[in-house]
Amino acid sequence: MAELSMNDLMFRDGLLNGERILITGGGTGLGKVMAEACVMLGAQVYICGRRGGVVEETAKELTDAHGGKCVGLACDIRVPEAIHDMLDQVWADGGALTGLVNNAAGNFISRTEDLSPRGFDAIANIVFRGSFFVTLDCGKRWLAEKKHASVVSILTTWVWHGGPFTVPSAMSKAGLNVMTQSLAVEWGNRGVRFNAIAPGPFPTEGAWARLSPGRAAEREKADPTIPLGRTGEMRELANLAVYLLHPGSAYVNGQTIAIDGGGHLAGRGRADLASWGDAEWEAARNAIRGANEKDRAQRTV
Ligand code: HXC
Ligand code: NAP
Repeated sequence: MAELSMNDLMFRDGLLNGERILITGGGTGLGKVMAEACVMLGAQVYICGRRGGVVEETAKELTDAHGGKCVGLACDIRVPEAIHDMLDQVWADGGALTGLVNNAAGNFISRTEDLSPRGFDAIANIVFRGSFFVTLDCGKRWLAEKKHASVVSILTTWVWHGGPFTVPSAMSKAGLNVMTQSLAVEWGNRGVRFNAIAPGPFPTEGAWARLSPGRAAEREKADPTIPLGRTGEMRELANLAVYLLHPGSAYVNGQTIAIDGGGHLAGRGRADLASWGDAEWEAARNAIRGANEKDRAQRTV
């Protein structure tokens, strides 16, 4: 279901006219709401994910609700050749992108001593390597064509204080934080700028199934551990992403902006899981496996 109306956005109609934006993992959750805001404000939007049906359905849902252009593309960002083919298709469809949102991710809670190498890779290959490969392929095109672009990577506040029980994700996001700072300097003087958003908890089905198994995302509005007493609202994240994608923020470069109600200043991360024993971990693993199997059955690439 489409989520936003113009009243949710801080911006005027047509703000993103002429912008062309790719949002990885844009078929669901935070990627979907950022795609929706961009479509509503006039951008041509591309969303990708491994579940072809999900991205196509989201693209249709958003254009049915708001008009405009949104294209769903099946692509696994762990595969550099697949990224290259997707970007060829996007460039052929209307020219260079003006914006990229590195949003696709994988994650699950686990005691670190229970991780296998494949478990680590399952996350690092999407978040750390996949996001870099997408950035690199876009970047080569922008530099060769002397185009301006804004890259926004979706991190977490764990990049500042660590992520116990989510170590592969925290390590991978920290790598993207350093990529943001490094490329802001290396490519800034050639028109490509880099920023990142570090969200606190925003209840989505994908995150809750793997980080709070057994708890329904839609019921998680209150959060007493956050200074503001609540989780994030989707429109709040969408507004920040639009700001960073628009040329009006052109002098902002190399920044990672928290949007977490002040949560990371109050000490976040899943340190609470230290009290779990074997039974709780076994139950969590089984619940997460169920969510993974359900999603995997829908993959078309
Ligand atoms: C330990 C686990 C595990 C678990 C999987 N593995 N789940 N290990 N505990 N709960 C291990 C498996 O046993 C296997 O290793 C390896 O990981 C690969 O598992 P697959 O299921 O084959 O992986 P794959 O199909 O590639 O799926 C990737 C995935 C899955 C990351 C595991 O969750 C996924 O596709 N996620 C995409 C969506 C997602 O995660 N969204 C949430 C983002 S939220 P072995 O050795 O057994 O073969 C987020 C929030 C951050 O990032 C911040 C919040 C504040
Ligand atoms: P989500 O709905 O599960 O989104 C993750 C998306 O990534 C899915 O659409 C998934 O689609 C896609 N994806 C995963 N692996 C991929 C691959 N190899 N190639 C292409 N696409 C892939 O979860 P979310 O909560 O919206 O998370 C979105 C982003 O916000 C992530 O970067 C996450 O780390 C970050 N974040 C979320 C929260 C939160 O509280 N929700 C907090 C901090 C940060 P497929 O499965 O179809 O590929």
